[in-house]
Amino acid sequence: MDRKRYAVIVAAGSGARMNSKIPKQFIEIAGKPILRHTIERFLAMSPAVEIIVVLSDEYKDYWKNYCRRTAFLERYTLPTGGFTRFHSVKNALEYVPDGALVAVHDGVRPFVTTEFLEGLFEEADRCGAVAPVVPLVESIREIAGDGTVPADRSRFVAVQTPQVFRSEILRKAYGQSYDTSFTDDLTVVQKAGFPVKTVEGLRYNIKITTPDDLRIAEALL
Ligand code: C5P
Repeated sequence: MDRKRYAVIVAAGSGARMNSKIPKQFIEIAGKPILRHTIERFLAMSPAVEIIVVLSDEYKDYWKNYCRRTAFLERYTLPTGGFTRFHSVKNALEYVPDGALVAVHDGVRPFVTTEFLEGLFEEADRCGAVAPVVPLVESIREIAGDGTVPADRSRFVAVQTPQVFRSEILRKAYGQSYDTSFTDDLTVVQKAGFPVKTVEGLRYNIKITTPDDLRIAEALL
């Protein structure tokens, strides 16, 4: 994995909390913040990967102090989170080197593996834009007025991160004006007219969102 430069934008700019005083990415599992577990997965793939951590201004000092105190992560950049995820990633793009392969990843998904990451980066090198998806396992229903109606789950997949791109594609795509459909990067890239590819994701690559997810994550880590 050293044909190119590699970068990861770790999106943790929302400051969303669970029941905790601190945003969920700073909650510790097995003695380390979730955000650190997540970043370590990328460093395990390649120690040379450029780490770009998007945080709201409010929490930058918190993270800088943590890194200093625990001697974690000497080299990283710290752009400021924006109004939506789109604006956060756009801010981070300034720090992405040219000619790189860049992953955009949720700060609260600490379970990606080296093998999985290598596969995504290789695919992005080949096709330009790739994201992992998983089929839905539950029956699904669509909310209709006060009730619900059945829906065909085979028509849908759930989209995960990391989503990986050639940097020049991601940069061009983020030149567009914001649209409310931009809930992830593949959507932004596709709207800009670039072909995108999906590959099978990892079911255990969970996004730690609720207190129940936290319990699952504790068990997994
Ligand atoms: O809230 P949502 O599930 O859309 O967030 C997905 C990811 O994007 C999270 O890791 C969150 O921290 C990040 N995000 C961000 N800046 C925002 C909103 C969300 O970096 N303004």
